[in-house]
Amino acid sequence: MSIGKAIAIRRGISRCISGAAALCLTLALGSLGNGLPPAVAQDLDVARGIAIVESKCARCHATGRADASPNPKAPPFRDVGKFYPLEHLAEALAEGIMTGGDMPEFKFNPNDVEAIIDYLNAMATSR
Ligand code: HEC
Repeated sequence: MSIGKAIAIRRGISRCISGAAALCLTLALGSLGNGLPPAVAQDLDVARGIAIVESKCARCHATGRADASPNPKAPPFRDVGKFYPLEHLAEALAEGIMTGGDMPEFKFNPNDVEAIIDYLNAMATSR
């Protein structure tokens, strides 16, 4: 295991401990995954990203592999990561994402931005 990876894991665990107990329980039970391969879905940032989008975005956006968006105008997240430069999206999520359309404004702290981007990236690239 690389040092970077080990640090990332430790960071994830301390975040997990200081963060929501319910989320950690969900991670432990492995009930989230959204169709991602288990090894990817268990990455702590990806798993946290899934938890965030499930609670804040899933009422409009499809968050899984093949589901349809509840709001037909909202692009499924598996496509957002493919068609939208994720660096730009990271900036937008940190500064306050506004589409000018039907979507409410959202703003996230850097840890959450990282988690959401890791999830979108995993969705876009894992096949
Ligand atoms: C109330 C419904 C709703 C919610 C909740 C919602 N979105 Fe959206 N989102 C939309 C719609 C509709 C669009 C299509 C553009 C538009 O009409 O605003 C969109 C577009 C997007 C886009 C594409 C950017 C663009 O300019 O088209 C991204 C990225 C996105 N949403 C991310 C998110 C994230 C991340 C969350 C959760 C934190 C979220 N959305 C929550 C409705 C929603």
